[in-house]
Amino acid sequence: MSNENRTGMPNSLHEHWMPFTSNKDFKESPRLITEAKGVYLKNHHGKTMIDASSGLFCNPLGHGRKEITNAVAKQLEQLDYVQPFQQGFGGSFELARRISKHTPGNLNRIFFTICGSTAVETAIKIVIAYHKAKGQGQRFRFVGRERAYHGMNIGATSVGGMINNVKTFASILMPGVVHMRHTHLKDHKFVKGQPTTGAEMAEDLERICMNFGSENIAACIVEPIAGSTGTLVPPKGYLKRLREICDKHGIILIFDEVITGWGRTGSAFASQEFGVTPDVMTMAKATTNGVVPMGVVAVKEEIYDAVMDASPKGAVELFHGYTYSAIPVSVAAALAVQDIFEKENIFKKSKEMSPYFLDGIFSLKDLDGVDNIRGYGMMAGIDIKLKEKPGRAGFECFKACYEAGVNFKATGDCLIIAPQFICEKKHIDEIVEKLRKGISNYSKKR
Ligand SMILES: Cc1ncc(COP(=O)(O)O)c(C=O)c1O
Repeated sequence: MSNENRTGMPNSLHEHWMPFTSNKDFKESPRLITEAKGVYLKNHHGKTMIDASSGLFCNPLGHGRKEITNAVAKQLEQLDYVQPFQQGFGGSFELARRISKHTPGNLNRIFFTICGSTAVETAIKIVIAYHKAKGQGQRFRFVGRERAYHGMNIGATSVGGMINNVKTFASILMPGVVHMRHTHLKDHKFVKGQPTTGAEMAEDLERICMNFGSENIAACIVEPIAGSTGTLVPPKGYLKRLREICDKHGIILIFDEVITGWGRTGSAFASQEFGVTPDVMTMAKATTNGVVPMGVVAVKEEIYDAVMDASPKGAVELFHGYTYSAIPVSVAAALAVQDIFEKENIFKKSKEMSPYFLDGIFSLKDLDGVDNIRGYGMMAGIDIKLKEKPGRAGFECFKACYEAGVNFKATGDCLIIAPQFICEKKHIDEIVEKLRKGISNYSKKR
């Protein structure tokens, strides 16, 4: 295959070890995407599919946005790379300012990373540096939550709570991590939006404080809505209670908004949507509309100040950073995205489309193969009834839906649906119709 034709069927599928993929299955029957435009994708059979998960929650503005492509091209022409240590360029400072206009409270100090995992890893390190700076170096424990996904570096894996992601690596995980229980209760079945029961699950944090000594706990990290496990929406009052317990014990509260950030809930961040301000927040994915990698950590000004004040003038205050932290190409994409957010009032668009989207998704409740549905904003999870062993139903149902012309991500036995915010009602209808067809076809074959 020539360099010009990298999108067709490759000469060999053997060499590339694909991430989070059943490689053997894929290589027997590949699913290659060749084109993406707006809300549509084309696969290597020439078939058009609707993108029902914005890639991996990455492209809420739709695929192939000319404004972003042009900004990236222009940036590469002018300045392709700047080393980010002890040097910089104007764009990253401008982007930090634009991002801080949207962050809640005074989370106005912005550290750039290269993806969601490195944002979480960085948040963990910043928390430790902060406690050390405040003379609280004994705080080493992190509290995560079952069914959480925070990425795949060692720190992020350790605070995560999806069993398949951790069991192989148990021997090398970060010490001192404790997990709260997840918030998905039996009476949350087919609940649209926030469940009214279950806020008491936040008391797990109080219990952990009692069992492990709150003075040893550095931070509690949660996704405001657990995304990768299939849209677990926080019960009403749950996040507020976590905030209260953290305040009581001097524990830093981290919201991982890698999925929920930038409008997915209908507000800029889930923090504003649910009225709870964390101390540290992570983001990635939609920051660049997914076209180039970038992660972001926003921290409260006090945290930044404490770390700055703990170092003498002229010293590096935080021994942490990445070669690709806020490189020009990522910054250019993210700035173009910020422009589109503003110009097209994107968060409002997401909020306005949410009821229509959720009604459509919940209309699939009558299908034989569907076990449960959850949703908030522009994200939803559809649990497929279990087959012989966990994970099988989700994957087979995903394949049936792919055949039916709708693409998304399945995790375990849950279909993760998160359309683009530029979707019109007709696109939501198409997603729902094709999901109905795909899930029904899967059920017939069961
Ligand atoms: C909440 C959350 N945090 C972190 C990550 C990791 O992001 P990345 O894959 O960019 O490293 C993800 C990825 O899905 C995520 O959903």
